[in-house]
Order: sequence, then C-alpha cells, then structure tokens
Amino acid sequence: MNTAINPNDLTAVIEADRAHLWHHLMQHKPLETNDPKIMVEGKGMRVWDATGKEHLDAVSGAVWTVNVGYGRERIAKAVYDQLVKMNYFANTAGSIPGSIFAEMLIDKMPGMSRVYYTNSGSEANEKAFKMVRQIAHKRYGGKKHKILYRERDYHGSTIAAMSGGGQLERNAQYGPFTPGFVEVPHCLEYRAQVDVENYGEWAADQIEAVILREGPDTVGALCLEPVTAGGGVIEAPDGYWPRVQEICKKYDILLHIDEVVCGVGRTGTWFGYQHYGIKPDFVTMAKGVASGYAAIACMVTTDEVFDMFKDDSSDPLNYFRDISTFGGCTAGPAAAVENMKIIEEENLLANTTAMGARMIDNLNALSEKHKVIGDVRGKGLFCGAELVMDRGTKEPAAEKDVQAVVANCMAQGVIIGATNRSVPGFNNTLCFSPALIATADDIDAITGAVDTALTKVFG
Ligand SMILES: Cc1ncc(COP(=O)(O)O)c(C=O)c1O
Repeated sequence: MNTAINPNDLTAVIEADRAHLWHHLMQHKPLETNDPKIMVEGKGMRVWDATGKEHLDAVSGAVWTVNVGYGRERIAKAVYDQLVKMNYFANTAGSIPGSIFAEMLIDKMPGMSRVYYTNSGSEANEKAFKMVRQIAHKRYGGKKHKILYRERDYHGSTIAAMSGGGQLERNAQYGPFTPGFVEVPHCLEYRAQVDVENYGEWAADQIEAVILREGPDTVGALCLEPVTAGGGVIEAPDGYWPRVQEICKKYDILLHIDEVVCGVGRTGTWFGYQHYGIKPDFVTMAKGVASGYAAIACMVTTDEVFDMFKDDSSDPLNYFRDISTFGGCTAGPAAAVENMKIIEEENLLANTTAMGARMIDNLNALSEKHKVIGDVRGKGLFCGAELVMDRGTKEPAAEKDVQAVVANCMAQGVIIGATNRSVPGFNNTLCFSPALIATADDIDAITGAVDTALTKVFG
C-alpha cells in the first residue's frame, strides 16, 4: 500500500515535519507550539510558504545559494534530460556534463587547470586539506602539514573542516578536533586589534608572525575566505592580499581560497579572489555553482599541484586515493552548465556590481537615520550592516535584538539574515545576499523593510 502523504495536504506535511524532521541550525523547542516554516514554491526573487504567504528573499535560500533565482525551468530541464540519459557513474570515469562544465569553469579561472567534483563545500575543503597533507608526506617527510585558518572564517561542518574553523560558537562542544590546524588573527578593520596606519598590511603580517612561531617548515597551507561570510561579511582592507601572496611565496605555503560563498558571481566577479589579483593554489566552491538546483561542489587546483600526484607511477601510493560517491552524479554539472550560461547571457556579473553598490548606498543612507548601524560593508551582492549600541564604544547589539530585526523583516515578508551563534559576543551583523537578478526595486524594498524593523526594535 502507498503510504505517502498527498503533497497537496499541507496540514499532513506540517505534522510529518513536526514529528520527524530535524531542521538544520535550529533549537526545536519553539516548534512544539509553532508550525515549522515550509517553503512550497519559488519564482525569481520570491518564495511562498505553506500558509500562502509571499516573501522577498534577500538571502538566496537563507544561506547565499540560489544565485540565479528560483523557478529556472531550463536548469530543471537540463537536469531531467541528463538524468534520463545517464544519471550516475563514479568519477573514476568521466561524463559529458562533467567535461563541459570543467572546461567552462577553467576558462573563467586563468592559472587553474583541474577540477575535482564533490557534493558539499565542507567536502571540497577536505579534499584540499587531504592534498596538502599528502604533499607534506610526499615532499617533506610529513613535516610541512599544518594548515592555517583565520579567526572568524568558516570552512564547513565536518570535524576536519571545523578544526580549521575560526568561529568558537560553531565549534563549542564538538571537540576534540583534528590536529595540525592553527589560527591566524581576523582582519576586520572596524574591530582592529591595534591602531596602525596600514591595518591591511599589519593584519597580513600577523599571519607571518604565526608562521614564524610555528616554524615555516611545518606550515603547508593557508586557507582563507575571499570575503569572510558567516563570520561577519568582512572584506580584507587594502594592502592585505598582496602581503598574503608574498608571505605564501616566501615560505613555500600553498594558498587555498574558500569560495564556497563568493564563487560563481556573488561579489560581481566570477570569483572573489579575482578582485585582488592573487594566484591561489586551491579554490573551493559550492553554493552558487548550480544555485541549489543540484548538489555540486568543486575543488579546483593548478597543473603544479596535479603533477605532484602523478610524477611517479611506479609508487602505488602516488596518486590522490580519494573518492566522493556523489561527485559522480551528473545532475550537478548539468545544472552548473546552465547556471553559468544564465549568468553570462543575462549579464548578471554587471548587475551584481551595480545592485551591490545600490545596496551599500541604501544601507549607508539608513545609517544616517539609525545610530544602531555602526558599520556598513560588503562586495557585490554580499553586504552586511553591523549593529552597535554605541558608536563610540562599538558595543555590539545583543543577538536577541538583531534576531528581532530579522523576525520583523520576515513578518513584513522580507527574508534577511544575521550572523548567528558564530563569533561569541559578535552575532550582530545583518546579512544581505539577494539573487544576482535583483532589481533596483528589490534592493529598495529590502532596505525599506530594514528601515521599518530598526525603528520598531531600536526606536
Ligand atoms: C565559506 C564557507 N565554506 C564552507 C562552507 C560549507 O559548505 P557546506 O555547507 O556545503 O558543506 C560554508 C557554508 O556555509 C561556507 O560559508
């Protein structure tokens, strides 16, 4: 007998959710008395929940993912056609969309040459971490194995990815962690650790200080987000990236840029690192690669790294002995090809730059009216507004008040985000990452809702 619930019976769907679903990143007690939110439909920038309420989505599926917007039939069709023809074979063999997307991607990433398919951002990062460790064993007797990560950055939810995670509230209670990960200081100028003239260079110099403390012959890689996302929407100040590149070169340290959020258009260039003229050794990406139409993530590297894994074919251990089962699902690259074509055909990088500038202008205008906005920052359509109780002392607004702003926007039908349970005491930054198709009216509607919410919560 077929026991499946009728999908049109939303009361039964809600009851099944309440009885069996374990939602992500959520304390479930309130769901004993409130209904869980269930999203049933999306079109463009808008989503409708099970009560029929319409929302303008200013965070692309809550976590900065649906970059080309909802309801793209051509992506769904490409995935359907591919799955009917050939849905899966392990990536020990190739596939037609796998080759096509790898070629398109590498074309956007001068200097890079190899794509390794996986199915989540955490997993893509782990692939790079494993390669760093294997290179250390192959070349340096295992010694040069340490991986540096930055305070406030996030690289994923697995134990190894959290070992390289700079957000104490995300990590609390999940240790012990994997050895060999070492933290370097954050580079948020608004919260500068010292008062110096060139803070960007100073912050990069702190990385060098950690390398010297640990011993350069023990450090294999440095892993950084191009713009720190969940740790507070942080763009490194001028002077930072050239010094980072110089330091990596000086100590023979591989540079791993985690583009899981920024990759494939979010900041107005194909990749965030391309704003800063740097040459990474590893680039990882996930969320925007197929805008959530299929699960796909990529670890991309250079010929130089790739060649180290095939230089001695007589050694039985001398290759990357790793597999991601669902890295072989063809839905991912089939969706990614169409996603990338849409961004090109609709000129969405230029739109992202223009609409991102409008969002920053609007937020700056709001900060004239609302003293609670201490800092406005961002790149392209990834923007943040840090809320403080006092502009002089920069005392952070309480997380519950920041969440009240988010809730008020939701009640108005606008979904925004905020840093949450990540950096202790600093879960006070509102986050905005609308789809790259956002119009001026959408941007104005988002900041209009924030204006109303700030008045309501802070007066
Ligand atoms: C910068 C960054 N890296 C990695 C990840 C992990 O990606 P996933 O959740 O797909 O494993 C995230 C997720 O938010 C992220 O923001």
